[in-house]
Formats: sequence, C-alpha cells, structure tokens
Amino acid sequence: MANVVVVGSQWGDEGKGKIVDWLSERADVVVRFQGGHNAGHTLVVDGKTYKLSLLPSGVVREGKLSIIGNGVVFDPHAFVAELGKLKALGVSITPDCLKIAENTALILSLHRELDGYREDAASNSGTKIGTTRRGIGPAYEDKVGRRAIRVMDLADLETLPSKVDRLLTHHNALRRGLGHDEVTHEAIMQELTSVADQILPYMDRVWRVLDDRRRAGERILFEGAQGTLLDIDHGTYPFVTSSNTVAGQAAAGSGVGPGAIDYVLGITKAYTTRVGEGPFPTEQTGEVGDFLGTRGREFGVVTGRKRRCGWFDAVLVRQAVAVNGIKGIALTKLDVLDGLDEIKVCTGYRLDGETIDYLPASQGAQARVEPIYETLQGWQDTTAGARSWNELPAQAVKYVRHIEELIGAPVALLSTSPERDDTILVTDPFQD
Ligand code: IMP
Repeated sequence: MANVVVVGSQWGDEGKGKIVDWLSERADVVVRFQGGHNAGHTLVVDGKTYKLSLLPSGVVREGKLSIIGNGVVFDPHAFVAELGKLKALGVSITPDCLKIAENTALILSLHRELDGYREDAASNSGTKIGTTRRGIGPAYEDKVGRRAIRVMDLADLETLPSKVDRLLTHHNALRRGLGHDEVTHEAIMQELTSVADQILPYMDRVWRVLDDRRRAGERILFEGAQGTLLDIDHGTYPFVTSSNTVAGQAAAGSGVGPGAIDYVLGITKAYTTRVGEGPFPTEQTGEVGDFLGTRGREFGVVTGRKRRCGWFDAVLVRQAVAVNGIKGIALTKLDVLDGLDEIKVCTGYRLDGETIDYLPASQGAQARVEPIYETLQGWQDTTAGARSWNELPAQAVKYVRHIEELIGAPVALLSTSPERDDTILVTDPFQD
C-alpha cells in the first residue's frame, strides 16, 4: 500500500487541485503539511466548484479523514470562514473527518498586519516579495523564534497570558519601529478566546492518528502547497514562501517517518508561471506571455493577481525532480499550447559566459542567467479532452516525451482539461 506526496515542481499554481482531487478519491487520509491559507486549490466535484485555501482537499469527499499537520501555519479566522463557505455549499465537516494537530502554530491578525506593513514599506524601496499578505512569513518567524501561540495553547488559559506577553514584547517592538500602533494584551486574548471553541473540537494528536492509520494499511495522501521554487531553502530566495515546500517536509510537517513515503508526484505545468516578484528566466512579457496567460486563465485563486507566464524550463523541473525525489510527474495544461507554430523549451542557462545545467543559488546569479532554448514544432489539432495517447497529435506526444527525457522523470498522469475525467493515466501513484 503506497502513501503519496504531491508537490508542485515549479512556482505553484501547477494545477494541483484537480490532481489532488483525483488522488484523494483513492486515498483514505489527506494531509496538509506546510503553508497555510496562502494556497489556493480549486476542485470541481460532481459539477460543483470548491475553492480551498487552508483545508485539505479530502474535506469535500465523504468518508475521508482530513488532517492539518503541525507544519501548517493556521489562521483560525480563515478556518472558520472556509468552514462556513463549505457548509453553505452543503459540505458537512465534523471533528470525525477533520483533525488539526495540537502543535500547529497560529496566524493572528498581528501577523497579517506585519506582512502588509513590510510589503508596503518594501514597495517604496523596490524590495517587496509580493506575498499573499496572509501573515504566513511572520507566523513562521514566531514559530522558529519559539514565541508562537499554538493550537493547544487555546486550551490552557493558565499559561496563555504569559505566552501572549512574550509574543507582544517582540511584535510591539517591531510595530513601534515600523511606526505603527502597539497591540494590547487584551486584544490578543480576546482574539484567541473568541475562536477557541470553534477550533478545539478538531484538535488531536495527529502523529498518533497517522501512525494508527498507516499501521492499519490506509492510503495517505500528503497534499503539498505552493511549489519547489518557492521553497524557503531550495527556491529563488528571498522571493519564496516561508516554509519548506519540498516532499521531505511531508514527514516533519505531519509527524510520520520518511519511510512512510513511497511515491512523490510532481505536478508540472506544460509551460511556466509565477505570481509575485523574483527571477523567472523563461518569462515572456510580449505576445507569447499574453497568449499563455489568456489561454491558461492565469489569475491567482487567492489574490486574483495576474500570473507571469513563460516557456517550459526543464532546468528548474529537473532540479525539482532531484530535491523532491519525484518518481513521476502529472503534466497539466498541455492544451494551452495547442495552436502554437513553435514551442520553446529551456534546456540550460548561460551565466557569465559559461553554460550551466542548474539554477544557481545566489540571488544575483539567478537574476543574470539567460535561458538556452530548443525550439520544437507545435501542433494545430487540439489536445483538450484527450483520454488516451492515440487522441493526441503526434507533435504533442513528441513534446511530452522530450520533456520526460529532459527532466529525468516519466509522466504518470497527463491532464488535458480541467474536467476530472480528461486525464490519461500511465501510472497510479498509489499502486506503484
Ligand atoms: P507568502 O507565502 O504569502 O509569504 O508569499 C511568498 C511568495 O509565495 C509570493 O511570491 C507569493 O506569490 C507566493 N505564493 C504563496 N502561495 C502561493 C500559491 O499557492 N501559489 C503560487 N504562489 C504562491
């Protein structure tokens, strides 16, 4: 019985929602292990569209256990709001089908505010990250700074006040420095106690729940958010999110051992997009970028921002295959390339007169690399809705085969439209 980790192999928005939904139908347990409500996963189940940010994709299917692992940063207000929206759509979520790890760090309003203050200040100096302004970075800072309020603290009203004091000593110093009002102890206590009753019923010892389920032979799906190039260590630092988005985090971020992971599936878009600031070697700002953006409907689920678009970058995905241990990819949005006469693929970079086959780690070098392209012939027939290789134009098959060769990983799933069934299955990750 295989447990599967799904990660994005580019800068996020690779189309994880559909693939995770497809996989979650086959899983017993679905686990989020990093990030927070900065993620945006769109699921279409039985004709209904669900937009999830914080909750694992399993919540929209009956009979699945959904888990928010300790590696997530958890905004209680976003949680309550998302639960409310799902209830309005007829989805019933109870503590029997959703568990939140007791040791999960909280995102509070002061984190969201700090995220915004910093981004505003950085806009003036041209150094902003382009975050989702959800407080993700500041919440992770408090976690590693050992001053976070965690879910379990909501149940311990004796020690909570001293934890709040410790948090505020830090935050109020920052807020004063940035020219903003301080936050009072009472305001934070009120914020926490007002949501405690809605959160605590879901709290559990998640590491044990997962251990029991694993021993019982259940299938566990670990649902990554964002993408490898946004990883705090392996991404385009500092233009990254504040968590490890790579597959290894599935273990630490939920409390299972690395041996519990059998298969890593990398979701990979047939071209490249990114939201926010930062290097993007194959970005196309002209006609090609507009074509991809319009055809691919490249707008963020969470912030509505227009995504930057460009050609497929095999250097980046090959690196993602290595750092995640990706066994197979789910290739998405191939149909967006339909109708192009020529398609370019980046196979290497030129950096300061040399040719390299990796993304350098330094910010300066990442900004200077120039893509080396191969040009492939496009195809005029549509790939949209294809459900077998025979239905694909020959040039499209060639494109896919070439990508496999360049990145060093096979296609396990090929998605040919947002519809669930428009998927060509080569390898079922749970059966591998
Ligand atoms: P943060 O995660 O809000 O701190 O944002 C940091 C960077 O990650 C920004 O460039 C965001 O646009 C990007 N980011 C965060 N979440 C997502 C996502 O789910 N998809 C794509 N980009 C994201």
